[in-house]
Amino acid sequence: MNLALAQDAPPLRVEDLSLSFGGNQVLHDISLHFRPGEITGLIGPNGAGKTSFFNCLTGLYSPQKGHILLGDARLEHTAPTERAALGFSRSFQHVALCPELSVIENVMVGLDRQSKAGWIDAFLPLTRGRAERQNNRALALEALTRLGIAQQAYESPTQLPPGMLRLAEIARAIVGEPRVLLLDEPAAGLNSVETHDLSVALKSLRSPQLVLVVVEHDMDLIMDVCDTIHVLNVGRVLASGDPSHIQANPEVVRVYLGDDDDE
Ligand SMILES: Nc1ncnc2c1ncn2[C@@H]1O[C@H](COP(=O)(O)OP(=O)(O)OP(=O)(O)O)[C@@H](O)[C@H]1O
Ligand SMILES: [Mg+2]
Repeated sequence: MNLALAQDAPPLRVEDLSLSFGGNQVLHDISLHFRPGEITGLIGPNGAGKTSFFNCLTGLYSPQKGHILLGDARLEHTAPTERAALGFSRSFQHVALCPELSVIENVMVGLDRQSKAGWIDAFLPLTRGRAERQNNRALALEALTRLGIAQQAYESPTQLPPGMLRLAEIARAIVGEPRVLLLDEPAAGLNSVETHDLSVALKSLRSPQLVLVVVEHDMDLIMDVCDTIHVLNVGRVLASGDPSHIQANPEVVRVYLGDDDDE
């Protein structure tokens, strides 16, 4: 990877972000910095605000206060589709693949935001539309290959075990080469072998061009793959640091890591 390019990749910064639903304040003055080239973990107890924070980043939720910056670009007032076009991509806490489409077709959906073919191409067999679709299919296959599940490309998601479903979702999220990739509990429902495969896949995604943020309750996975971890607790940043500092933080152990009953 070209070093000059790596230096150009924009960081994601959040400043004083606050979000409320009615009288329920879900996020309180969150200020965080996410560096490209790193895998950042976002952890915390159920209800801490992790998914809400992702929803603010992607534009699904509108925070009442604060700034979201990708490099110098202020994003808090841009629509979700514009943020997607700028390079934001995500996976969801619950598997969200379309059962009527094959795995590769699901991955191709991740390219729709970039499509140059207009809606008319859906009705007319124009060369441009066909060529783009062929190109998208090749890109989708490449993303599936990166995640080690190219052999399942033409299967139905209903036939796949949970680990492969998660990898297929990640393939859909990376196929457009995002600049910011947000993964919400990618290890939920996976067994230990699948979780191991996932951790290998996540490490392979680390790139100087990518801000990668992982929300997860599986602490072995988080401690294994993350360079930096932020801990949220009831909507506030409780701690930030590398895995060894987070594991040794008595307040983090008290509110979260010490709770063996957590998912
Ligand atoms: N659309 C909404 N309307 C009202 N309240 C909401 C909405 N979305 C989230 N909340 C509230 O925000 C708080 C944080 O929820 P959120 O889903 O962000 O937590 P989380 O950290 O992702 O939890 P988990 O680990 O269980 O997924 C909860 O009290 C939740 O009820
Ligand atoms: Mg959540």
